[in-house]
Amino acid sequence: MMSSRRPFGVHRRARTPREQPLIARPPAGARPAAPRARRRRPAVIRVHDVSKTYEVGQIKVRALRGVSLRIERGDFVAIMGRSGSGKSTLMNILGCLDAPTSGRYEIDGTDVSQMDEDDLADLRNRKIGFIFQNFNLVARTSAIANVELPLAYAGVGREERRARAADALASMGMANRLRHQPSELSGGQQQRVAVARAIVTNPSLILADEPTGNLDSRSTEDVLAIFARLNAEGRTVVLITHEPDVAAQARRVIRLSDGEIVEDERLLGLRDPLPSARRLKSGHTSAAAHIAETKR
Ligand SMILES: Nc1ncnc2c1ncn2[C@@H]1O[C@H](COP(=O)(O)OP(=O)(O)OP(=O)(O)O)[C@@H](O)[C@H]1O
Ligand SMILES: [Mg+2]
Repeated sequence: MMSSRRPFGVHRRARTPREQPLIARPPAGARPAAPRARRRRPAVIRVHDVSKTYEVGQIKVRALRGVSLRIERGDFVAIMGRSGSGKSTLMNILGCLDAPTSGRYEIDGTDVSQMDEDDLADLRNRKIGFIFQNFNLVARTSAIANVELPLAYAGVGREERRARAADALASMGMANRLRHQPSELSGGQQQRVAVARAIVTNPSLILADEPTGNLDSRSTEDVLAIFARLNAEGRTVVLITHEPDVAAQARRVIRLSDGEIVEDERLLGLRDPLPSARRLKSGHTSAAAHIAETKR
């Protein structure tokens, strides 16, 4: 008899059925989840063996020599290297402002070399926000009109343009400077207008070529805090800098030398919170000190 096999003292009790199973299982027919370690974030940028040679008269300058690079969505990458090492050349290629001499570049999985000029302009306008060392604002034009420009290119109507430009400027702490022209603003304020112009189209990729190069330390902190915020919102940030303090704000630091990547260091994972810019500037963090030490 079955009951004779039950050990002493154990009696069958009436069970209340569980509302939820103890172990959640995927419904029948669903595909099993991929193992965690194998899951990779999608790459925003994929550079395959890119070279760039400039020809000036008889002289050939090999600005990039076989650079390969993968940048994941949500990363914050600082590019460092001596003057002339190819940083801006690489940035111009990443931003589709220039084409490589050889090699391939994909943005969000699309091979850029296959796109015509119209599609490229559209891609730049929709996906990429640029920030430059010298701000590149249109002179004798108000802050708000400067920020409206990319929306005008995108064909956004006047009212919406105004509203979105005003919002972007307000988010940069520039709500009370909408009518000021570049010459009536400080360097840090001009750069904040430039950042507002870069983000007004809601791009997923922010490219900045020495954005703090012309700023004092206070304005540098402000601009870095803005980049940290943009990155926390999920935007990918790639910036060129000579300053170890600025690079220490990034999640990953890539070093170029003579047109080649010579170092690629991860400081923080994609989900780690970024250190606050203010702390970085007052007293070096270990990351900043490390970058300063290894600076060539
Ligand atoms: N339009 C161009 N025509 C010819 N040579 C160029 C051009 N642009 C850059 N170069 C050369 O390519 C090399 C890399 O220049 P790049 O501007 O990329 O350097 P960089 O790392 O950005 O330097 P910096 O820190 O001074 O801005 C340099 O030797 C430069 O002289
Ligand atoms: Mg440069």
